[in-house]
Amino acid sequence: MCGIIGITGRDDAIDGIVAGLKRLEYRGYDSAGVVANDGRDLRVVKRAGKLEQLTGALAGQPLASRAGIGHTRWATHGAPTDRNAHPHVEPAGRVAVVHNGIIENYQSLKAGLGDVRFASDTDSEVVAHLVGRELETMDAPDLFDAVRRVLPQLRGAYSLCFTALDDPETIVVAKYEAPLIVAHADGVGYCASDVTALIAYTRDVAALRDGQVARISPDGIEVTDAEGALAEPHRYTVNWDLDAAEKQGYDHFMLKEIFEQPQAVLDTLLDRYTAPEPGSSPRLHLDELRIDELDLARIDKVFVLACGTSLHAGMVGKLAIEHWAGIPVDVEVASEFRYRDPIVDPHTLVIAISQSGETVDTIAAASHARDQRAPVLAICNVVGSTLAREADGVLYTHAGPEVAVASTKAFTTQIVGSLLIGLYLAQVRGRMYATETADIIARLQQIPTALERVLELDGEIRELAERYKDTDYTMFIGRHAGLPIAMEGALKLKEISYLHAEAFPAGEMKHGPIALIEPGSLVVALASAGHVFAKMVSNIQEVRARGASVLALGTDGSTAELKEHADHVLTLPEAPHELAGPVLSVVPLQLVSYHVATLRGEDVDQPRNLAKTVTVE
Ligand code: M6R
Repeated sequence: MCGIIGITGRDDAIDGIVAGLKRLEYRGYDSAGVVANDGRDLRVVKRAGKLEQLTGALAGQPLASRAGIGHTRWATHGAPTDRNAHPHVEPAGRVAVVHNGIIENYQSLKAGLGDVRFASDTDSEVVAHLVGRELETMDAPDLFDAVRRVLPQLRGAYSLCFTALDDPETIVVAKYEAPLIVAHADGVGYCASDVTALIAYTRDVAALRDGQVARISPDGIEVTDAEGALAEPHRYTVNWDLDAAEKQGYDHFMLKEIFEQPQAVLDTLLDRYTAPEPGSSPRLHLDELRIDELDLARIDKVFVLACGTSLHAGMVGKLAIEHWAGIPVDVEVASEFRYRDPIVDPHTLVIAISQSGETVDTIAAASHARDQRAPVLAICNVVGSTLAREADGVLYTHAGPEVAVASTKAFTTQIVGSLLIGLYLAQVRGRMYATETADIIARLQQIPTALERVLELDGEIRELAERYKDTDYTMFIGRHAGLPIAMEGALKLKEISYLHAEAFPAGEMKHGPIALIEPGSLVVALASAGHVFAKMVSNIQEVRARGASVLALGTDGSTAELKEHADHVLTLPEAPHELAGPVLSVVPLQLVSYHVATLRGEDVDQPRNLAKTVTVE
């Protein structure tokens, strides 16, 4: 979603801002703009389209100033046009704003301003007008105070960043339910939507908490609460560097991230199972836990809440928790949870899964559950993110920065994280002997090597992608642990190649979807060896009998039989545990989608209409 960056205290502030916007591109956007503040004018350049449109425009009118702010916009209110791009300047030309989020009451705020001309159709512009009005009424105009006076009028979610002519080297930011990071290094002040934009300048950052406002200048950063009392943001040091956020010779971030999966899984498993004291039995542990283990032992129900790919990881988590810990689990789309009447109490554990930790639907669902005193465990990739901070416990996935919009290494590490939580719950409830846990952990350690073997199939998968790249409609089928992967395979194909794809539980085919099958239909079947393999073979035969071409994903133990029934079989190594199978079987589907999309000439890393982090409802 929208990306924000502000810099103050550098002669080349605008160059730094454009470089930061480049790093924020992965969030998804459809227009971009900057404003340079040299104390005489607020000079705005903004363009619809990709960043190249903006840099092209800037080449013709270079902006020199020591302070400025920039924005990539993902359109919500108003089409993605030049005039709707941010920054927005109020009529007196005194204040400019960029905004991430939605100002829900913008229409009534606009009406309250009377007969004023607006230069855009956005919800955000009204905030610049309101702050401009406040400045006009002040004897000693002060942007920080003006912003604080306006904030109570706003409804919705925002991270806001302002610059004003009265005090050109001061940037003011405010945060409510949309992420905002501030930093200060070597006499330069920074703010951004996420650390990726700042990693080239510093790794020591602070995430503002909801309701906090900050004044950023070359001298330092002052953070207050809404009433103006000094407040402490969440300070942390980023544990990855610029290298991790670059393509490192790969054509796309997505491909790089697919190939990083063995390492990402290894890192997620690292040091999870250790003895608290010499001589005691090893125990599994999370990264942060603020829930009494005795309370966890009394949990009688689990909700897994997440969106998109993270939801699919949660579906695997359900199988693991029910199997190992013996607790009933519901997996639910986070955006639905708080609009019904979920039965939640202190004995309900909520597991919220999010790569970014900033997905507003997941954060809101988790907080709805916390309001009913349910403990929340987060599985999160981004350290210090909102969800991670607000949860009662966190298991970090240690996948490193995931830049491509299509989630890959975050997914496989989320599955590993879910399996660990399943084992952890079994441990605190006394459902498993330490030796059993140790055996499963030892088996999970074999996943990275198995993943390396799966990645060796890339050449064969590319050939398959050549063959199937123009298939308009693909059906993915699976059962048990294969079902979430069928769903993930369909999502991956849709989101980056824009081809229609659907997933069904293989057993459901006869109840309707099989009517779609006709000669030439393509069905991708998840058919690893395991307790549902024989059932999958029957389902494959049913679609084949009706003329479908079948691409089956099997394992060493299932391939021979599959070859009799499928048009093509991809053979994966046997998973070290049946519940770890999804970590392996998703990889060929990620690669198929990647190759199909590149062969079709699509923008793999930034697919149309999508944003990496969905910070609006
Ligand atoms: O950051 P999150 O894990 O909360 O994001 C959730 C979804 O928006 C995300 O997984 C989305 O479905 C991806 N684009 C899928 O590749």
